[in-house]
Formats: sequence, structure tokens, C-alpha cells
Amino acid sequence: MSGMLTIDATRLLSAVRLIVAGFGSSDDEIDAVATHLVDANLTGHDSHGIGILPRYAGAYQESGLNPNAHVRTLLDTGAMLRLDGGAGFGQVIGREAMALGIARARQCGCCIVALGNSHHLGRIGAWAELAAEAGLVSLHFVNVISRCIVAPFGGSDARFGTNPFAAGVPMPGRPPMILDFATSLLAQGKTRVAHNKGELLEPGILIDDIGRPTRDPRYSVIEPFGAILPFGAHKGYGLAMLCELLGGALAAGLAQHGDDTGQRRVLNGMLSVLVDPAALGDRAAFEREVLAFTDWALASPPREGVDKIRLAGEPERESRVRRLRDGVPVDATTWGQILESARQLGVDPRAVARAAGTA
Ligand SMILES: NC(=O)c1ccc[n+]([C@@H]2O[C@H](COP(=O)([O-])OP(=O)(O)OC[C@H]3O[C@@H](n4cnc5c(N)ncnc54)[C@H](O)[C@@H]3O)[C@@H](O)[C@H]2O)c1
Repeated sequence: MSGMLTIDATRLLSAVRLIVAGFGSSDDEIDAVATHLVDANLTGHDSHGIGILPRYAGAYQESGLNPNAHVRTLLDTGAMLRLDGGAGFGQVIGREAMALGIARARQCGCCIVALGNSHHLGRIGAWAELAAEAGLVSLHFVNVISRCIVAPFGGSDARFGTNPFAAGVPMPGRPPMILDFATSLLAQGKTRVAHNKGELLEPGILIDDIGRPTRDPRYSVIEPFGAILPFGAHKGYGLAMLCELLGGALAAGLAQHGDDTGQRRVLNGMLSVLVDPAALGDRAAFEREVLAFTDWALASPPREGVDKIRLAGEPERESRVRRLRDGVPVDATTWGQILESARQLGVDPRAVARAAGTA
């Protein structure tokens, strides 16, 4: 088990900015990438936070990630946009794709954004949050082109990625519902975090390289590889397939078939559906019923051992408040890997450690 560090969020952001500068990114890109990654840690999703920087550095060194790329519009039919991300930083590509989609949904009432060839889009809930801030309902189906790590329902080896699904529903006068999860029982990054911490996984999440149940996260992190199981048995498996079919085949023109082992880059395809509730004709009814139903559902008396009933998105907001106050926990192995990736990018790891206050 490695030790844990606790890093103040503002200092962590300064340290991560130094590392991202090593990609040769513009100031705007440095801001977008560093802020998104640190925010993922703040929301409690360490799997999609700063710990992914070594992977990005590896992808960049193999020319699988193109800094300073911007979205290109391949097709524009009004309420449908087809965009290419040029294998650029997903934190920039995702933001630009959402800005285009939001503007178009405001104009047309809805917009379908088909985004292909983006490098890793990070925490997908961030894109649903942007749409919700603009008053829009959104759905996001995402595929992952990388090493296969998830087995189909009943299968004994990995055939696709952790294919996340996200949705956002704005709530008048309240924070939105943001549902955002990998369709695997666990996000891949969480197996990496467990492996780095020397922890075992809960039973029933992982199978080993010959399809037997295992609790050892190594089977998802180092060879020989096993597979993570989809969540929710055949139902979660169906949603994972839909993410591949919609986010991959329909939006990106690239789905998983054959194994991408050996490449460090992670490409995401994303089909986003944005809807302006006002444009559907009865904003007042939508807002009234959204609040009435949410209040009704959340009023269910908590079962023993449960402190309160939460709306999706609330745990992330609670974590943000806690970690902004108390600092961001980072295990020493992950921090060591991050400093090593800084060195590979030509950034002095001691300067990074000093900026973070861990020197
Ligand atoms: N870019 C990619 O390729 C990629 C791939 C996989 C996952 N991801 C990201 O990884 C992150 C982590 O995914 P995950 O599957 O580990 O998430 P998770 O299992 O922690 O589930 C998170 C979702 O469940 C909700 N939730 C959690 N506890 C709740 C409670 N008690 N009551 C109500 N709602 C609750 C959260 O608000 C959130 O919407 C996500 O942000 C996802 O987008 C990205």
C-alpha cells in the first residue's frame, strides 16, 4: 500500500498547469485541460483526474494526441452537426463541440451533435453540466477506442471499452440532475487507482485472463489482461452496446472491432442530443413536473444505513465542497507517475512538486 498525499486544490491546479504546458499547449488549452482534470478529482472521480496525465503523455509521445487541435465541422444541417476532433485534447474538443451544439439547440430547439475522433473526453458529466447550465436537457452516448477492457454479458474476454453514458436535466432554481457513469461495473481508472493503492476490488467486478472471477485489479492494469464486467447484467450490457453503436458507429464512424492493444491514445466518439424544454412547447409544465417528481422521489424515507436520498449529480457537488475545503487526496504511486510524466514532457518534476507543495 502506498501513502496518501493531500494537495490543496489551487496548488494542484498550478502544478498540473506546469505539466500540461509540457505538451506545447496554448494558454487556453492549458486552462481547459488542467481545470477539467482537477475538477474530476474534486468531484471524487480520481479515475478521470490528474492520474490520467501519464497516459496522455504516452499518447502524445506516440503522436496519438494532437495538442492545440480544434473541432472541424464536417456536416451542418441546422439541427445536426457532425464534428471531427482531430485527436485533440478532449477537454478542448468537448467544450467546443458543446458550445456549437448549445448555440444550435437555442436556435433550432434541439441539436444532435455527432463528435468523432476526439482524444479522451474525460468526465462526460462535465459536458452534461455545460448543457444544463444553458437550460438544456442532454443525453450523451460515448464509445472508447482503446484496448478492450469490458466483457459482453456472459462473455469471458474483453470486447469493448467502459463506454460511458451521461444525461443532464436542468432544474429551475436548483442544481441539475447529472447522471454520468461508465457502463462497466467500475471505471477502468478506478482499477488503476486500486492497483496503485494495493487494494483488492469488491467481488463480482472482474474476471481474469481465462474468464474466472478475481478481485485482483492487476488483471485490468497489467498483462495478462482479464475483463471488467458490464453493470446491471444484460441491461447494462445493452446500454454499453448502445454507446458503441451510437457514440461509435453513428457519431464517429469508428466502433470497436479488433483490439487496439499497444496504443496509448484513447479516442472517444460521442453522440449528444440537446433539447431546449421551452422549444417543446410547455416549459412551465416541464419545470413544475421536474420539481414535483424530484421532491416526491427524494422524500422516500432512507433505509437503515443510508443518510439521505440523493439526486444524481449531488455526490459530485458534495465532494467538490469537501475537497476544495480539505484538499485532494492523491496516492503516492500515482503522484510519482505524474511527476515522471512531467519529466518525459521536459518539465522539471521538482518545480511541479514545489508548485503542489509536495516537495
Ligand atoms: N471518457 C471516457 O472514455 C470515460 C470512460 C468511462 C468513464 N468515464 C467517466 O468516469 C467517471 C466515473 O464513472 P463511474 O462509472 O465510476 O461513476 P459512478 O459509478 O461513481 O456513478 C456516478 C453517477 O452515479 C451518481 N450517484 C452516485 N451515488 C449516488 C447516490 N447515492 N444517489 C444518486 N446518484 C448517485 C452520480 O451522481 C453520478 O451521476 C464518469 O465521470 C464517466 O464519465 C469516462
